[in-house]
Amino acid sequence: MTAAAPEPSTSRTSAGTTVAVTGAEGFIGSHLVEALVAAGHRVRAMVQYNSFSSFGWLETLPKEVLDATEIVLGDVRDPGSVNGLVKGTETVYHLAALIAIPYSYRAPHSYVETNVTGTLNVLEAVRHLDVPRLVHTSTSETYGTARTVPITEDHPINTQSPYAASKAGGDRLADSYHAAFGTPVVTLRPFNTYGPRQSMRAVIPTVIGQIAAGRRTITLGDLRPTRDFTYVEDTVAAFLAVGTAPAEAVVGRTFNAGTGGEISVGDLAALIGKVMETDVEVLQDTERVRPADSEVMRLVCDASRLRAATGWAPRHDLAEGLAHTVAFFRDPANLARYKTDLYNV
Ligand SMILES: NC(=O)c1ccc[n+]([C@@H]2O[C@H](COP(=O)([O-])OP(=O)(O)OC[C@H]3O[C@@H](n4cnc5c(N)ncnc54)[C@H](O)[C@@H]3O)[C@@H](O)[C@H]2O)c1
Repeated sequence: MTAAAPEPSTSRTSAGTTVAVTGAEGFIGSHLVEALVAAGHRVRAMVQYNSFSSFGWLETLPKEVLDATEIVLGDVRDPGSVNGLVKGTETVYHLAALIAIPYSYRAPHSYVETNVTGTLNVLEAVRHLDVPRLVHTSTSETYGTARTVPITEDHPINTQSPYAASKAGGDRLADSYHAAFGTPVVTLRPFNTYGPRQSMRAVIPTVIGQIAAGRRTITLGDLRPTRDFTYVEDTVAAFLAVGTAPAEAVVGRTFNAGTGGEISVGDLAALIGKVMETDVEVLQDTERVRPADSEVMRLVCDASRLRAATGWAPRHDLAEGLAHTVAFFRDPANLARYKTDLYNV
């Protein structure tokens, strides 16, 4: 644990209000739903319609969380579906997105439809239905390889993958809706987030999952890039901070959320081996290596704007967050939900 940060000064939403979350069944979204219910909100949670009637990670949440959660099947690409979700809510947390970089090389149209048009639909709904606050989710990937570190919100945008480009497109729309229509949108730009329930498309679950499944030779992509890894509870706290801060402190602005720490993928794999008390050999798999100009080589966050506006600070260091994540993946019931023998794009 790091030192406790001051709490946000005033909360604009009170317990008992209804808030909407898109991407609610996903990794960060499911943790956010839990935190919003714990803060006393009723949550309207959009789960992407699917033929399995799967509610994703929401299915694993305790009954008391689900009792305060209304699950709405829908799709952010569909304006009617989004209008129904956000109508009458106090705050909308928009997390729904296609997020995998390798899959964005294969299916870029779907990224534009989900991350750009989907965000446009959310902005239109919030604008026309007079929702008082929208928290739009960006990503540190929009910065590309750091030109200066740590990265502030004034760092140039350099989109090195279709995923990053589609997220930056959504960000630009959010900025334009605030400028043109006064839409009360805040953009949160999380750096790499990790923790229980993350999919094996991300590096930390890939390493932990392979070790937990009994492998001693771990295959990864490029081992050199560095990232600023933030534990999911800290990222969720950043969402709540910008969702509840007074409008004058946050609306119309973009906020980075990250720890300010930095570790390479190779060193991270070694650290996870240590946390799991397992000797592992790390190999680079050419199938996982990205085109040279598309690989973001360095990301380190400067979150001082968020800290100054809301008092947010990360409370979990990497070793502690990894220990929680390892405990999750070591539970056979959790590990059984993953395909540890595949390269998950
Ligand atoms: N995980 C990270 O490290 C990280 C870092 C920065 C930003 N982000 C952003 O945070 C958000 C959540 O990411 P995550 O890591 O939880 O990923 P995730 O894939 O677990 O969650 C995304 C969710 O969006 C849903 N979704 C996709 N297309 C949809 C559609 N058309 N309609 C409705 N829902 C749809 C998916 O079903 C999924 O549940 C995303 O916006 C992502 O870009 C994530």
